[in-house]
Amino acid sequence: MVRKGIILSGGLGTRMSPLTKAVNKQLLPIYDKPLIFYPLSILMLSKIKDILIIVNKGQLNQYKKILPDGKNLGIKIRYLEQSKPKGLPDAFILGESFIGKDNVALILGDNFFYGQNLTSKLLNCTKLNNGAKVMLHKVNNPEQYGVAKIEKNRIKKIVEKPKKFISDLAITGLYFFDNKAIQYSKGLKPSKRNELEITDLLNKYKIKNKLKFDYIGRGGAWLDTGSIEDYYKTSAFVSTIENRQGFKIACLEEISYLNKWINKQQIQKAIEFYGKCEYSKYLLKLISKK
Ligand code: G1P
Repeated sequence: MVRKGIILSGGLGTRMSPLTKAVNKQLLPIYDKPLIFYPLSILMLSKIKDILIIVNKGQLNQYKKILPDGKNLGIKIRYLEQSKPKGLPDAFILGESFIGKDNVALILGDNFFYGQNLTSKLLNCTKLNNGAKVMLHKVNNPEQYGVAKIEKNRIKKIVEKPKKFISDLAITGLYFFDNKAIQYSKGLKPSKRNELEITDLLNKYKIKNKLKFDYIGRGGAWLDTGSIEDYYKTSAFVSTIENRQGFKIACLEEISYLNKWINKQQIQKAIEFYGKCEYSKYLLKLISKK
């Protein structure tokens, strides 16, 4: 069972400067809530309640203003400051004592997922006892991601940002690992870009036939928030869906409430905390429903 979750929320957000000079990218809005709410909601939908957020040095206080310790959401949030981004697998080295003997999910702080069957797929992933599991999604620009080539329903090959086309299935920024991820990550060597690569870690599992995968599927969305253009497109996507349906994407209190992790009083407290805003109105509607 996967019990721990890590959100890797460091990075300099250089491609979005000057927006990211004073504020961490993951605290900027995607439509009506900070970007960090979206990956956090994915861990919460996976029923993971023990979460470590890795942030840049000096930015802890910004995060704590909006996501203190998780009690308000019926979960546990801890933080760790990272002095310098050293690649995704570094999360398991930094987070070793947090992970302990458990299995762990890792999600990138700027990844956006949405889809009808997503929650049941996520719950399937958290059943993982040993090995690793990734979520794949077809994209038009595979050269910008880690990519998996599938043959006979198995992962044949994994390459980080392939210059030559091998497949259009990107490995999304959501990974489920058993506890060996810690030891394996310690044995990785930095790549040409001087980072530990998640694809190298995944390859360690692949060699041992311990790497599984699932597809987000064509009805689901995995959106980029890397460049300003993609960032605003993701915002527009959220606004379109929310305004059409009247359901919010990544309303953390709603997820907790529906998971029965918090009660009406705690929602009431959240409304007081957020103040008069659309988000609070939505929460009030949620607890007024019969
Ligand atoms: C990282 C990973 C890559 C993965 C991507 C998902 O890329 O290295 O394998 O597909 O995240 O967002 P980076 O953001 O470091 O370029």
